[in-house]
Amino acid sequence: MGHADPQVKSTLQPYWMPFSPNKEFKAEPKMFSRAKGMYFYTPEGQEVIDASAGLFCVAAGHCREEIAQAVYEQLQTLDFTAPFLRAHPKAFELAERVTHYTPAGLNRVFFTNSGSEAVDTAMKMALAYHRVQGQPQRQLFVARERAYHGVNMGGVALAGMVNNRRAYGPGLAGVYHMRHTALPENRFVKGQPEKGADLADDLLRFCNLYGGENIAAVFVEPTAGSFGCLPPPKGYLNRLREICDQQGILLVFDEVITGWGRMGANFAAQAFGVTPDLLTMAKAITNGAQPMGAVAAKQGIYDAITEAGPAKGIEFFHGYTYSAHPASCAAGLAMMDLFAKERLIERAAAMAPKFADAIHSLADCPGVVDIRSVGLMAAVEVAAVGGPGARGHEAQKRLYDAGLNLKSTGDSLIVAPPLVMEDKHLDEIVGKLRAVLKSF
Ligand SMILES: Cc1ncc(COP(=O)(O)O)c(C=O)c1O
Repeated sequence: MGHADPQVKSTLQPYWMPFSPNKEFKAEPKMFSRAKGMYFYTPEGQEVIDASAGLFCVAAGHCREEIAQAVYEQLQTLDFTAPFLRAHPKAFELAERVTHYTPAGLNRVFFTNSGSEAVDTAMKMALAYHRVQGQPQRQLFVARERAYHGVNMGGVALAGMVNNRRAYGPGLAGVYHMRHTALPENRFVKGQPEKGADLADDLLRFCNLYGGENIAAVFVEPTAGSFGCLPPPKGYLNRLREICDQQGILLVFDEVITGWGRMGANFAAQAFGVTPDLLTMAKAITNGAQPMGAVAAKQGIYDAITEAGPAKGIEFFHGYTYSAHPASCAAGLAMMDLFAKERLIERAAAMAPKFADAIHSLADCPGVVDIRSVGLMAAVEVAAVGGPGARGHEAQKRLYDAGLNLKSTGDSLIVAPPLVMEDKHLDEIVGKLRAVLKSF
């Protein structure tokens, strides 16, 4: 399906692709030129079902006219205004609408352009908060192995994925990593595993070793997404919350993937019944149609930072030229309408049990060593053959040729379809995945 024409290939050279094997891709490109609903279309016109919602973004399905129209109208009305010292009404409107979905108390919203920026913003909020609380010594962060927190330097320091860290050094000194929660005894478990809550006590070890009074915040993905769907063991997040409360540490949920219905609730915080102090989000907030991220903060954190300084002047020295960009806000507001009108989150919750059964039915396919699932996210892990990630990489090529778009990390194939998926789409996804797994 690649472009054989060398003329075409030479025009592909200037674009330096992110997180991609550039040489391999340019030799055999895998492009999409159009999308609608649950499907992508290749330039040659082949239909490819989207089982990863783009990249966990397209909750309402592709190319929603409501969003396209809202962005078009916005760009004709107010294309840009500086977000510092100036603002536009839709920024306030969207922040307010977002708080209808965030857990109670997380009702102050700071806009960024990506999940990575949301993570670094949350790190700064934690440091700024402790400083105004008279605890400037709280400079350490705790995160977890097998975590992905984006690619800015703060997020890379928090992340627990070796390839994303090894070329860049520690980034920030003073980040410690708890063990991940992928225990061998939890293989093939649907939803939250029974075993592993005690792994949260790693946090206590760091408190005892470095002084809990020196730790600013703990960052976790409530369900690790990019690594390949690791739902939290039962009681694990509650235990983290408990230790954070005892030690005065802020708990941050990175919900860039788990937010906006993916877990079958507004956010993972509600799905698992544990409320963080700061919550990052991105991706589905605009259905992926415009770049946008955000941090939802507890009001107490906002109040402490904004009340601490002099009556006049900037309270939080942070922000982006494109924070709350008018077109992103317009897309976000149109998406809020879709969440409400099409009851996307309720649909995800209703579909989740059927989705889990269907994906777990792949357990008998050759080479499958684990399946994990929660909400509308699952990972099928295949045995590493020919080195870690080699088979996952080969599977990527076969999936594309089979007409199935999936994200994979290493040897885990991650299924996270748009929340508008219907039974027939689920059948198609599982059927194609089964065929590819059997082709090895
Ligand atoms: C949990 C988590 N945090 C942060 C990010 C980074 O988001 P972005 O790629 O929008 O910068 C991602 C991206 O997948 C993510 O999954």
